[in-house]
Amino acid sequence: PIDPNFETNREKVDEEDGVAVWGPVDPPEKLGIHGTHVAVDFDICIGDGACLEDCPVDVFSWVDTPDHPESDVKVQPAREDQCIDCMLCVDVCPVDAIDVDPG
Ligand code: SF4
Ligand code: F3S
Repeated sequence: PIDPNFETNREKVDEEDGVAVWGPVDPPEKLGIHGTHVAVDFDICIGDGACLEDCPVDVFSWVDTPDHPESDVKVQPAREDQCIDCMLCVDVCPVDAIDVDPG
């Protein structure tokens, strides 16, 4: 599962679509954790899509990640500022790739 303490244990190495990227990253195999309030571990995500379908405020956007070992699509939390902390995405993800930190 995603490390809930990633902000302490990792370093912010980049920004993509206005979303922080927490390393290490070594594309295309290692893509890091994307987002802060709503964080998706791209290296765990298998592109299931339940999070994107269930989010009531449309926080996520599909992004292509060709040649990543787990899946060739991921969900960018591009509108994480819209998140209402309902926790649906956290609950539905089959591989526990998402961390939402209310407050
Ligand atoms: Fe969307 Fe709820 Fe997840 Fe926030 S916690 S990103 S509102 S599904
Ligand atoms: Fe990925 Fe989990 Fe969503 S596998 S697409 S973060 S439901």
